[in-house]
Amino acid sequence: MPQRFIKMKQEGEKIAALTAYDATTARLLEAASIDCILVGDSLGMVVKGEKDTLNVQLEETLYHVRAVVAGAPQTFVIGDMPFATFQQSPQQAFANAAKILAAGAAMVKIEGGSNLAETVHFLTQRGIPVCAHVGLMPQTVRASGGYRVQGRGSQAEQVENDAQQMQDAGAAMVVLEMLPQTLSASISEKLQIPTIGIGGGNACDGQILVVYDMLGMSAQQLRFVRNFLADGGSVADAIRAYITAVKDGSFPAQQHSID
Ligand code: KIV
Repeated sequence: MPQRFIKMKQEGEKIAALTAYDATTARLLEAASIDCILVGDSLGMVVKGEKDTLNVQLEETLYHVRAVVAGAPQTFVIGDMPFATFQQSPQQAFANAAKILAAGAAMVKIEGGSNLAETVHFLTQRGIPVCAHVGLMPQTVRASGGYRVQGRGSQAEQVENDAQQMQDAGAAMVVLEMLPQTLSASISEKLQIPTIGIGGGNACDGQILVVYDMLGMSAQQLRFVRNFLADGGSVADAIRAYITAVKDGSFPAQQHSID
């Protein structure tokens, strides 16, 4: 199934992804033919109301993955590995990733670059499909001091190297978060696996947003987000409009991108 996304990249078809945490939203996403749903650890913030994603528990992820898979049984669902469920050792990562797959996810997502290459290799060699996540990594905000654009100036090489090492370790997809659009474009061109941008600009092979952000339900309007419900219509219309805009390349526009 991840091969489908590689084929889409090769054929220049953009991948439209959104997060979901419950069966009802997942059902609407599946009805609109979304390519991929992420049960993100953003659930810590947007479902639980916490200040960051660091307190998401594995049991909570499993609960939300089960709900989303029940609502969207035909859709490719990725389960995010929560903070402290994979950093300790490849063996710890394998045991917890296996639980996320057993809950119904088709793939796990792991935040991290070259420091996690050994773990990603360990997982992919043992049958666990992995989506990597580089650039801004929200699980490190307490250490790094905030949600800042990554990959500017001399940092660019490190981010490129992180993405490359994730591909070399066997990752089938990589999320690029909050990067200058020229850097995302360069990474997307170099990699064979699809890049999925969030604040990563238009040249990524696909796009993802937190579903509540693109429905205008979140407290703050982030620069890289468009509110697809702002012009009226239903939630289902907004989801369809998002998918169309990703596919035809009109989202993200220049005003949603980082220079
Ligand atoms: O947790 C999440 O929802 C994410 C996406 C926004 C990429 O990591």
